Amino acid sequence: MNEFYKRTGLYAAFFSPSDEIRGSIDRVVRKHLGRAPRRVIDPACGPGLWLAHFAKKGAEVAGTDLEESAIALAVESLPKRGARVVVGDMRRPPDELGADFDCAINLDNSLGHLADYMDVAEHFSSMRRRLTKRGIYIVGLALREATDEIDTGVVFERGPVDIQGGGFAALRTESLGLQPGTRCERIRQITITANVPETPSVIAEQYDLLTFTFAMFKDIMEAAGGFEVLGCYDATDESLPAKPFRKGAGDVVLVLRAAEAKTKASKNAKPKTTARKTANRKAATRKATRRK
Ligand SMILES: C[S@@+](CC[C@H](N)C(=O)[O-])C[C@H]1O[C@@H](n2cnc3c(N)ncnc32)[C@H](O)[C@@H]1O
Repeated sequence: MNEFYKRTGLYAAFFSPSDEIRGSIDRVVRKHLGRAPRRVIDPACGPGLWLAHFAKKGAEVAGTDLEESAIALAVESLPKRGARVVVGDMRRPPDELGADFDCAINLDNSLGHLADYMDVAEHFSSMRRRLTKRGIYIVGLALREATDEIDTGVVFERGPVDIQGGGFAALRTESLGLQPGTRCERIRQITITANVPETPSVIAEQYDLLTFTFAMFKDIMEAAGGFEVLGCYDATDESLPAKPFRKGAGDVVLVLRAAEAKTKASKNAKPKTTARKTANRKAATRKATRRK
């Protein structure tokens, strides 16, 4: 697992959502849900930064993350009542988080951390069962085609910022481009810290993120039991302007809603084996995205 995510205090300092993106997400939720959400789930919640946003507005919130230290910070910072966060895997968020969520949120291409496209299909299938009939899933990812140029170099830089508990730190994230064969984007990230207790002065690491083409994404949605795309927004601009949902759309925030189940069988948990295989096979031969 990514070493940076274990340093939850650093993560929170760099990625606390700005007022602008909070306002934009609230607007998108209102537009597609018609009201503020009542029950919100983040299936890769980290320290619960987005859950805290919705909890403050009175929603019940739930989340899971593989990283124990992130969940510990989420438990500490979220209200004791109306919030449930546990260590778990977004492929299949733990049952104890409950269901009937009218909103799910999963930004910044966290899905890219999954090992393969079958995992992504399992994730969406799982989320489908946790949402209410009219519930929405707000998910950030990047849609890129094989012919798209991917700029390599710095994609995110922040700091120095003060770290809660002492010290300060700066972060730089670079893209090393798509890796031939896997179609994953390789990310190189370096965090430099000074006087942050129990933290190395340099955390340097490299990891690969899954990427998605438009066709691959559609295959995965189908394998997961069906989602319709209600909205598509430009993730590179915190004001989240609407943009067309199409090939090469780039870094996007999509608003999804579970499509009506067509058959009794498709209501059942797992995506069909053949559809899952197709999603994985097609995915392996296509290319896509970059992380925001
Ligand atoms: C970019 S962070 C996003 C955190 C949070 N959703 C937010 O917006 O602040 C990605 C998170 O995904 C988590 N993660 C990676 N793979 C996971 C998995 N299979 N299941 C659950 N969480 C996972 C990491 O530990 C990390 O906290």
